[in-house]
Amino acid sequence: MSAVTSDTNKDRIFIFDTTLRDGEQSPGATMTLEEKLQVAEALDEMGVDIIEAGFPIASNGDFEAVVAVAKRAKNSVIAGLARAIPADIDRAAEAVRHAPRGRIHTFVSTSPIHLAHQMRKTQDEVLEIISKTVAQARNLIDDVEWSAMDATRTPIEYLMRCVEAAIKAGATTINLPDTVGYAIPEEHFAMFKTIIEKVPGADKAIFSTHCHNDLGLAVANSLAGVRGGARQIECTINGLGERAGNAALEEVVMALRTRGDAMPYHTQIETTHLARASKIVSAAANFPVQYNKAIVGKNAFAHESGIHQDGMLKNAETYEIMTPASVGIKETTLVMGKHSGRAAFKDKLKELGYELGDNAFQEAFVRFKDLADRKKHVYDADIVALVDDEVGSVGDRIRIVAMEVVSKIGGVHKCDMTLTIDGEETSVSYEGTGSVDAIFNAIKQAVGQEPNLVLYAVDGVTGGTDAQASAHVRLEMNGRIVSGNAAEPDTLVASARAYLNAYNRLLIERGAAAQGAMAG
Ligand code: KIV
Ligand code: ZN
Repeated sequence: MSAVTSDTNKDRIFIFDTTLRDGEQSPGATMTLEEKLQVAEALDEMGVDIIEAGFPIASNGDFEAVVAVAKRAKNSVIAGLARAIPADIDRAAEAVRHAPRGRIHTFVSTSPIHLAHQMRKTQDEVLEIISKTVAQARNLIDDVEWSAMDATRTPIEYLMRCVEAAIKAGATTINLPDTVGYAIPEEHFAMFKTIIEKVPGADKAIFSTHCHNDLGLAVANSLAGVRGGARQIECTINGLGERAGNAALEEVVMALRTRGDAMPYHTQIETTHLARASKIVSAAANFPVQYNKAIVGKNAFAHESGIHQDGMLKNAETYEIMTPASVGIKETTLVMGKHSGRAAFKDKLKELGYELGDNAFQEAFVRFKDLADRKKHVYDADIVALVDDEVGSVGDRIRIVAMEVVSKIGGVHKCDMTLTIDGEETSVSYEGTGSVDAIFNAIKQAVGQEPNLVLYAVDGVTGGTDAQASAHVRLEMNGRIVSGNAAEPDTLVASARAYLNAYNRLLIERGAAAQGAMAG
């Protein structure tokens, strides 16, 4: 049994985070290497047991990202995904061997619908593939996870034979995913209970749940799986993931912690890191968190009605089942103004969990000073937006140099813009049906490509009319969807920068193999 799964405490739940793999498969959630490292560092510091860092065979970029995360890992086991194909398994082993503790996670479909239409293989052929590929992985590394893709739509008798074969071949973790988000909690509980009780050798492996949220049941199913005997939960920060996403890490962790009376299990997650991890992932993946998202949404601890506010003032426990502080949400505090110096800014960044290199610090400080000149009160949220923005714009090929927008009621809406494209300056002018239309079209004209605008949204970082505007843009081109965001005191500048942020991501090449090698 692997080092991570040799913990004999039967109530201990291992948290397997797949934000960098299943999460990154969300349309528009592509992250750069720098962003992936930032996310991995936050997960490692938070106490995540296993980080699935990517799918090494999918592209050179994915391979390099898994290697880089593996090299930086301090406490977490680093997993790399592999199909049940020898070349995938070799490539995953090559990537995770750089980690102090690595894991190969190999998977194959087991349901009749996948076997008939996707795999075109018989049940016996798949059984043979499981034995061979798990044994191959186990010859390369001690820690091997095997997943039965679409387990919840697989007849239980056949699933039991597959699990038995995987354990016999040396799998140390057995994952039974609800790949299409079809299960309901009672079924999920029963599947784990039956398999753990009946499969010979089941006591030699840790069982894992991996739930998708198509019916909004991913967290409930994960917890039911634990009740059925699973001791590893696969999840993502903010519930990022294919289609409707995966089970949200912050929700399963806080459910277990808050309802320990009904669910006597524990994780080793430091829950005060949850809010920060949510912000880092939201910024890295350019994926806004819905306001009423449990645990980390803007409104998760907001009390609006008079009765609730009255109760809160008398005793917070009247309407709060956990404290904001327990998930790392701090009061919005006034930080500094334009007279604050470098040392104070550095201290503030540290308090907010950022440690920037010299160049990044210098750039962030210049932007902070600029912001403080334009905005009277600079809040923690402003600093977070400013730093996340800086990280997100590293390596941009298109940059904005100057912009002038004229907007008249009943008249023209015109944007004059100067940009640099790969270092070369170009100026354009565009008249649109509104200011934002003029800005976005001016950029398209300068770059000479026609991405489709899938989403455009603007939000205030804090309250007040002098609040920074946080703009989100999602673009689609040739079937690829990317997101961008930016925060600025001026809404139009924020919009232009968010559009450019997305555009720059479109220009980052992704390996062709990635398209054909996506997992569920
Ligand atoms: O949902 C799924 O089945 C997956 C597997 C690759 C584990 O993500
Ligand atoms: Zn999945």
